[in-house]
Amino acid sequence: MDGAAELVFCVNGRKVIEKNVDPETMLLPYLRKKLQLTGTKYGCGGGGCGACTVMISRYNPITKRIRHYPANACLLPICSLHGAAVTTVEGVGSTKARIHPVQERIAKCHGTQCGFCTPGMVMSIYTLLRNHPEPTLDQLTDALGGNLCRCTGYRPIIDACKTFCKTSGCCQSKENGVCCLDQGINELPEFEEGNKTSPKLFSEEEFLPLDPTQELIFPPELMIMAEKQPQRTRVFVGDRMTWISPVTLKELLEAKVKYPQAPIVMGNTSVGPEVKFKGAFHPVIISPDCIEELSVVNHADDGLTLGAGLSLAQVKEILAEVIQKLPEEKTQTYHALLKHLGTLAGCQIRNMASLGGHIVSRHLDSDLNPLLAVGNCTLNLLSKEGERQIPLNEQFLTKCPSADLKPGEILVSVNIPYSRKWEFVSAFRQAQRQQNALAIVNSGMRVFFGAGGGIIRELSIAYGGVGPTTICAKNSCQKLIGRPWNEEMLDAACRLILDEVSLPGWAPGGKVEFKRTLVISFFFKFYLKVSQILKTMDPVRYPGLADKYESALEDLHSRNHWGTSKYQDVDPKQLPQDPIGRPIMHLSGIKHTTGEAIYCDDMPVLDGELFLAFVTSSRAHAEIVSIDLSEALSLPGVVDIVTEEDLRGVNSFGLLGEPEKLLETQEVFCVGQLVCAVVADSEVQAKRAAKRVKIVYQDLEPVILTIEEAIRHHSFFHGERKLEYGNVDEAFKVVDQILEGEIHMGGQEHFYMETQSMLAVPKGEDQEMDVYVSSQFPKYIQDIVAATLKVPANKIMCHVKRVGGAFGGKVTKTGIMAAITAFAANKHGRPVRCILERGEDMLITGGRHPYLGKYKAGFMNDGRILALDVEHYCNGGATLDESLFVIEIGLLKVDNAYKFPNLRFRGWACRTNLPSNTALRGFGFPQSGLITENCITEVAAKCGLSPEKVRMMNMYKEIDQTPYKQEIDATNLTQCWKECMATSSYSLRKVAVEKFNSENYWKKKGLAMVPLKFPVGVLSTAAAQAAALVHIYLDGSVLVTHGGIEMGQGVHTKMIQVASRELRMPMSNVHLRGTSTETVPNANVSGGSVVADLNGLAVKDACQTLLKRLEPIISKNPKGTWKDWAQAAFDESISLSATGYFRGYESHMNWETGEGHPFEYFVFGAACSEVEIDCLTGAHKNIRTDIVMDIGHSINPALDVGQQVEVTCAGEWSGPVGRVI
Ligand SMILES: Cc1cc2nc3c(=O)[nH]c(=O)nc-3n(C[C@H](O)[C@H](O)[C@H](O)COP(=O)(O)OP(=O)(O)OC[C@H]3O[C@@H](n4cnc5c(N)ncnc54)[C@H](O)[C@@H]3O)c2cc1C
Ligand code: FES
Ligand code: FES
Repeated sequence: MDGAAELVFCVNGRKVIEKNVDPETMLLPYLRKKLQLTGTKYGCGGGGCGACTVMISRYNPITKRIRHYPANACLLPICSLHGAAVTTVEGVGSTKARIHPVQERIAKCHGTQCGFCTPGMVMSIYTLLRNHPEPTLDQLTDALGGNLCRCTGYRPIIDACKTFCKTSGCCQSKENGVCCLDQGINELPEFEEGNKTSPKLFSEEEFLPLDPTQELIFPPELMIMAEKQPQRTRVFVGDRMTWISPVTLKELLEAKVKYPQAPIVMGNTSVGPEVKFKGAFHPVIISPDCIEELSVVNHADDGLTLGAGLSLAQVKEILAEVIQKLPEEKTQTYHALLKHLGTLAGCQIRNMASLGGHIVSRHLDSDLNPLLAVGNCTLNLLSKEGERQIPLNEQFLTKCPSADLKPGEILVSVNIPYSRKWEFVSAFRQAQRQQNALAIVNSGMRVFFGAGGGIIRELSIAYGGVGPTTICAKNSCQKLIGRPWNEEMLDAACRLILDEVSLPGWAPGGKVEFKRTLVISFFFKFYLKVSQILKTMDPVRYPGLADKYESALEDLHSRNHWGTSKYQDVDPKQLPQDPIGRPIMHLSGIKHTTGEAIYCDDMPVLDGELFLAFVTSSRAHAEIVSIDLSEALSLPGVVDIVTEEDLRGVNSFGLLGEPEKLLETQEVFCVGQLVCAVVADSEVQAKRAAKRVKIVYQDLEPVILTIEEAIRHHSFFHGERKLEYGNVDEAFKVVDQILEGEIHMGGQEHFYMETQSMLAVPKGEDQEMDVYVSSQFPKYIQDIVAATLKVPANKIMCHVKRVGGAFGGKVTKTGIMAAITAFAANKHGRPVRCILERGEDMLITGGRHPYLGKYKAGFMNDGRILALDVEHYCNGGATLDESLFVIEIGLLKVDNAYKFPNLRFRGWACRTNLPSNTALRGFGFPQSGLITENCITEVAAKCGLSPEKVRMMNMYKEIDQTPYKQEIDATNLTQCWKECMATSSYSLRKVAVEKFNSENYWKKKGLAMVPLKFPVGVLSTAAAQAAALVHIYLDGSVLVTHGGIEMGQGVHTKMIQVASRELRMPMSNVHLRGTSTETVPNANVSGGSVVADLNGLAVKDACQTLLKRLEPIISKNPKGTWKDWAQAAFDESISLSATGYFRGYESHMNWETGEGHPFEYFVFGAACSEVEIDCLTGAHKNIRTDIVMDIGHSINPALDVGQQVEVTCAGEWSGPVGRVI
């Protein structure tokens, strides 16, 4: 083996030569840190989110073809890139050169909010367009399947990308006879003249055309290199790992003999995550490069032979071609494989992962192995000793040594036989989402009947997800051979399979009951499917299925990616240059799509910078007996380990009430609690050392995890919070009926795409420090850091440019971590950066509070609810955090849109041994609202009425009073409700749903409509104050600063719109640099849907102050420019800088009396959703959602529609029809 220590590849057309490459380096950190190409983002590090998507192009000197494919840079070892061209978002287009149409359209269609996912989205679509300039809708959704967006709900991204497709944007659905273009059904007339609604949020006419000739070409140098260079094994030697890339089969076998334990890395999608997340380490890695034999595609008489090195995406293409050419009876297995290849992971992983890697990894939830096993596939192996074949059977899958690869052996190819006449193969899979989610259970099933007769000759069934590896129901199948395919066989089969595929209580991944159901449901579906085919093949002999069973057969496809929205147009008399009320693009939109928007970790590494990694508790409740830091401290690059000892005297800080400890070295109260923090020269060293800190625990009792356990132990943070109105006990005496019930809700992760990030930079004099942080609350960061460093707040400045999603999760824990990071920076006088990995982030930070709601409702037979007694319990976790506030908001909003004349609401925050739960969108309202709506649904059922009727009957109407005796005018609630009824064609669809349900036994649809009253306010005047600072410079340009944080909601865009209106100048003349405690002190937290509202008034105030000062100058020279006026003001010594202030809405709440005016106003809405479920598998699909929302006067309808849709369908491929009035 000859060493070739030089790694050569191209990035955005520029050649990169690495002479001393470290094989442990992945492309993502290389791009971000070494090449400073920070457009490619880190979201998960495990191939799961797509934020790091890049395009890889490879030239094949034999076929002379270039293959472009998307890949996850986080799992791509740079050593695997020799000869490849990498295109990152920076190479696609930029504001400095040319913006690419993909970038332009995603931005202009409002497909970005926080923008953190956007470069990945751009790269996925860009790669698709490189291969298919006019893609189909299916190709489009396929291309985006591996990219997560936490903000937009996907609708606007798909809208943007659809503009490249040939097909129309129509939903093409005629379900219930209603399609997206059928707007007329039941619809109300337009608004009055002057208030017209507009369906357009962007204008396609102004889009740049896509011109494929403008794209970066494959670097000719790499082409020549591939053609001319003698191919020989390359060896890259790092500190801990050696990477060997053989280029011939012979060299590969030699390497395998020499290093039998070394994995053969193809896509690295199995080995990579094991190294990253499970601590696996391989001193030698063998990674074959362009070995022809591994990419073989052979069509033989009895089947297909596919090279082990083909990517899963290539396998998908090959199979799709083959099934076009061959009769269906021969391609049963290929059809089944294709079905799973369509949903396996996302496009990026399918393009990286190899067939061989997939098979040999033998993951317990492998989608392909069950099918390959039932399809009688064989594996062609090769070693120095020669070739041999082994079956891909249960013994192989369970890694039985006699049926497995030998140490020196490699898998060269896989034979996948054709199916035969009277042979049927099916694939089944149920996962949390259709794409990009591992299966909960999957299965491959095959039956062969021989020449008709309907007698089972061969039967194979394999399941994934139910055991430590793929499980075959071999004995059951054996016992069923010889039986006819009928209901008795079905009955026997179910019993046998359940017995054989017994899932123990500890089965990996839990969900045992659900998995057992799936195991049987899949077989039932297979039975029905085969029966149906038999009927079509021989209707005389096989009578087929009862009609009612047919609904079990069809899979639910949630590919319903369409949506329309309307909003209230501005008054036609509004000046055209006044931007308020217009759908203006997020001002960072183009920067999001070009990757130029800078987030905390995109800031360049500073001189002498250190990295901090946390060591966290692995126990829920334990005493720490000892901590041994010695091994960690002895590792190279480790500078320090910060412990509680260091923080003596400053180790706790409270945001709301109960102070929270920063580090804990005596007793831990939850898994993920911060114990100490390793500070090292680099991220890799800090993380390596953190794993070497040895902690000995002594478990303590009690360990309280659930609300029920907390109630049992009386473990609460405070006494009850209570709200009472009318006389509940008396009302219960007069009602017709009483019902009692309860509902449990689980928690939710924030899953902001940008993980917790912070950089503390000591300024070197006067104990000053700058803290750059991804936070919603810079003032709190300033306070906690100042307290930890024992300096006044005026020495600590906190800066937030933008946040890659927060959703409530970047307040309290962020503060604690920032304080520890700043402490380390101060101690060592060097900048310290701390960026959490996704797993750490999810472990350390809490999320939405799980809830338990208990209710007792007293109601009349006509559905009127006269008395309601509700108890709320939230799981607050180990510390108080914002749990009490969450309970309070939940209680204040528990009435939702209903007038309950007599009620009693009580709430408790439970102290448990979970990481502390905190604010998350809605702040207690989603849980509280669900409890109330659930109760109403039950009341309706008891009365024999539709829930919508009971909702309508109990809704607030016109002027009324809330339970806390605040006046409410609900006129718009009624209007939203009526309009939603009309636009959703509720009554028509209700009838259609009922018909569907009566005709379909195994599939059911549901249609529900829910009203919304959202009280706006933050319970206190002080918490609603806001400030702004506006400067006018002598060239006439304006700089605006305010206290709000840009986290995707577009507040900065709105503030510039406000300044533009107030100062009557174009938006392009106004700039906003970010949020800082240096420009606006003491700003409140950004949250609660009030940030633009409050800060907008402060910006308005500042602008009006300035305008008032400049009025005399402007009136002297009304035709002048802002430059003229600014200069004139300067000459007259008039200040061109003003602060603006809004003192906050009057709000207060007295919990003693249960009375107050906690909210300034109420917004109203209504939403109607239709869903379909598969009763056999739990698969479900959101067919359509209509939302009508009164949000007052929108400053920017494009941004506000985006926020509505985000709340409704984040994480779903669904398309709401929205209307903002
Ligand atoms: C985000 C993500 C989502 C995923 N989702 C799914 C999913 O939905 N469904 C599913 O089924 N799977 C899923 N997977 C798993 C994925 O299918 C496998 O990781 C992948 O197929 C492995 O292929 P690879 O080429 O990347 O393997 P590598 O990581 O390169 O190698 C894996 C193993 O195979 C061995 N190996 C590879 N080639 C050979 C050879 N020719 N001869 C001998 N040994 C060999 C290696 O030694 C190594 O031990 C997912 C993975 C990720 C990261
Ligand atoms: S997929 Fe690479 S960072 Fe998430
Ligand atoms: S815009 Fe997609 S994650 Fe924020």
